[in-house]
Amino acid sequence: MTPRAQALDMLRAVARKDADARIVHHFATDPGRLERMGVEAAGLYLDLSKQAWSAEGFEAAIDLARACDVEGRRAALFGGEAVNNTEGRAVLHPALRAADDADFRALGEPVSKEVAETRRAMARFAADIGSGAETGGTKQPFQAIVHIGIGGSDLGPRLLWDALRPLEPTIDLRFVANIDPRDMAEALAGLDPETTLVVVVSKTFTTQETLANAELAKAWLANSLSPKRMARHLVGVTAAPEKAEAFGCGRTFGFRDWVGGRYSLWSAVSLSVAVALGWDVFERVLDGARAMDQHFLEVDLERNAPVLLALAQVFNVEGLGRHARTVAPYAHGLRRLSAFLQQLEMESNGKRVKRDGAPVDTATGPIVFGEPGTNGQHAFFQQIHQGPQVIPAEFVVVAHTSEAAADAGEGDAPLWSNALAQAQALMLGKTGAEARAEMLAAGVEEAEADRLAPHRAFPGNRPSTTILMDALTPEAVGALLALYEHKTFVEGVIQDINSFDQWGVELGKVLAKAILRDVAAGAPSEGLDPSTAELMKRLMV
Ligand code: F6P
Repeated sequence: MTPRAQALDMLRAVARKDADARIVHHFATDPGRLERMGVEAAGLYLDLSKQAWSAEGFEAAIDLARACDVEGRRAALFGGEAVNNTEGRAVLHPALRAADDADFRALGEPVSKEVAETRRAMARFAADIGSGAETGGTKQPFQAIVHIGIGGSDLGPRLLWDALRPLEPTIDLRFVANIDPRDMAEALAGLDPETTLVVVVSKTFTTQETLANAELAKAWLANSLSPKRMARHLVGVTAAPEKAEAFGCGRTFGFRDWVGGRYSLWSAVSLSVAVALGWDVFERVLDGARAMDQHFLEVDLERNAPVLLALAQVFNVEGLGRHARTVAPYAHGLRRLSAFLQQLEMESNGKRVKRDGAPVDTATGPIVFGEPGTNGQHAFFQQIHQGPQVIPAEFVVVAHTSEAAADAGEGDAPLWSNALAQAQALMLGKTGAEARAEMLAAGVEEAEADRLAPHRAFPGNRPSTTILMDALTPEAVGALLALYEHKTFVEGVIQDINSFDQWGVELGKVLAKAILRDVAAGAPSEGLDPSTAELMKRLMV
């Protein structure tokens, strides 16, 4: 038996015991619990003490991380080895937020100089647009940016903008992802082509949705601008610059194949956000992520925030069979966090084979879903509290919803008190006897109190993690997203899967093209399954 298999067995055995224990009992019997399970990292505080693990369960999880060689795999990632083994690529998003004089190497090739050059070019571009030195084809300053991209070329930059945008931005930044033309129509509404910059973001520059939207934007620009002038309005961000140039982009900003799409927000993929927020703000996002990189690299597994966050999930999924997790950011600016995490975690770890191609021997990525608090409380939280399945929760809580609020000393207690109360209610619950006593005290008849008590009881003992941020500053947002990236990586290491490919999205893309060929031919092709053929006929009206 390998050390990993042994450690997995141990974790499962301890989890079986912990499944029957109450979290509150762990607090009562283990005075060091909060200190052991509360960690600080890059300005964030993580409280994992409301998870279902006992001290023994926690130790078993750390042992598992060690047996899976998380430390060795982490060194391989930062060392630029071919961690993405199905595509033979390094995975070096930390290089994108490293200091200018860093020396990262992808498969042995130095990359840091090029990263720094791209950053300088982005900073210049952002400054020139801000000052009006960079203008459109008719010499007017840019007032709006339309950012076109999907998946990793959309979710990260959109989240940054939502989290950090000023209330009255000087640049009107809009995002378009969906191939539904309505998305583009809404984005372009009210904009003037002569003062609008279109940034087309696609690592491959082959993505159907992005290219279709880029064509729509180009046609919109062409109504007002000659082809020569139009080039000043079209910027490409891609790992395939020749394709962006062929499309008509007057400027391109590059990144390399060692940047995965869902890990790319630190690169030129966030150009439009860096322009609209200002370069200094974007640099602070990178600083926050770099601080989390340092923490992940340097701190022992027992106190390592991404490692512990990953282990809590492994304990829930593998140990306790809890195959979903809800993420509730209590900050309007983080309202798209669960969408971002769905791609980050489910595209990375939604895998059924291990790195060597053999079937997985653990459960892999759980279903991630969520809504910002407090909205989610008035929707699906009923099921989290009283449904028969246990769904672990993750609360991301801010003391101040913006840097301005922090500077003004304005706390947001009505918001965060709800998060704390939810986590408390999930853990404590309420027995039927307590519910009954409350009703009797309120004057309810005994028979009625007996009838209602089961409905008004909460099982409790439902696990949660709380992540605290002082304020929604650029550094804190950068640290939070880097925390989740490393957490996702650690889970992949424990599951022994490649977190950095996404072959599962390919088949649908190929079949969509085949369906479009049938549509062009006017009929479903011979041999198509009857259900798809019938649906196609009904849609081809
Ligand atoms: O289809 C999935 C995917 O490849 C994601 O991994 C990626 O983030 C997205 O499509 C967009 O890809 P691109 O940046 O190449 O347009």
